[in-house]
Amino acid sequence: MVEANNTTVTLQVHRFTPRPERAERARGGSPFAKNSSPFGGGSDSAARRRPRGKQWVQEYTIPARPSDTVLDCLLTIKRTIDPTLAFRYSCGHGMCGSDAAAINGTPTLLCTATVRDWAKQPSTAPEVDDEGFRRTGDETANEPDVPAENVENNITEGSLGVIELASLPGFPPQRDLIADIDPMLNQIRKLTPYLQADGVLATTAEGKVDVFEYLQNPEQLAKYETLSNCIACGVCEGACPVYAGGDAFVGPAALIWASRFINDSRDTKAMDRMDAIDTADGVAGCQSVRACSRHCPRGIDVGEEMWQIVAKVRER
Ligand code: SF4
Ligand code: FES
Repeated sequence: MVEANNTTVTLQVHRFTPRPERAERARGGSPFAKNSSPFGGGSDSAARRRPRGKQWVQEYTIPARPSDTVLDCLLTIKRTIDPTLAFRYSCGHGMCGSDAAAINGTPTLLCTATVRDWAKQPSTAPEVDDEGFRRTGDETANEPDVPAENVENNITEGSLGVIELASLPGFPPQRDLIADIDPMLNQIRKLTPYLQADGVLATTAEGKVDVFEYLQNPEQLAKYETLSNCIACGVCEGACPVYAGGDAFVGPAALIWASRFINDSRDTKAMDRMDAIDTADGVAGCQSVRACSRHCPRGIDVGEEMWQIVAKVRER
């Protein structure tokens, strides 16, 4: 079906520009960057969650079709209207996880979200706070979602609606729609996210040693195959209210990676891996809210997997 191309969509983008001196330190310009920058590493979590800089909401109205993705719209803006708008992407089709952001307050991937699914009329678009979380009806009861003059401007013939964008909740924004996901990657790294296996020497038909084999049958593969689809996008972490609350919880993504190897019959470090997550900020931090399950773009039932790994660690 050929779609009409005389339609438009309005993107309300929560933009952020860090203070210049902090951005400089974050690039390694200062020997004190690690300790003082909100984007540096380490334990300065309060600073991490409140980077300083300029924040504002910017509206862009562009031609768009219902089947366009939000990433398509952002690329149009970047190429034709505003080259300063910052966002991150790579594969463009849901495989790399680099473009996770909050769309209408919901963590998801920009490249798989379509205008058809996410555009709303301005009066129904939920309010999103500075952290990218949707505000409740009580908080917004006396406030319009957008200024009245903008509402009038947006309800024009051919408008597909409004999409609100912010950086991924639960992580400090680096610039515009780019969040600093290093905290998640560091947590995953700490749990040794690679196979530690003892191979079996295989021989050729002539009896010569050929290669190491790591044998596994289909039933053993099935125990972790879905978990191996995780692309470390951070969407589950952005949805998790415990992870967003500070450093008290290692986060669902790191636990998914731990579970992937604990359930792999070839891995010889399952007990060590379970010891590593059997901590106050490991499996004990999961409150079974299961908000992480709703939005995983790789189809992992994260909440159920959390439940399974918590039970496995406790029962060993
Ligand atoms: S479990 Fe799903 S939502 Fe969470 S990081 Fe992996 S792919 Fe993303
Ligand atoms: S750009 Fe790779 S997942 Fe969206």
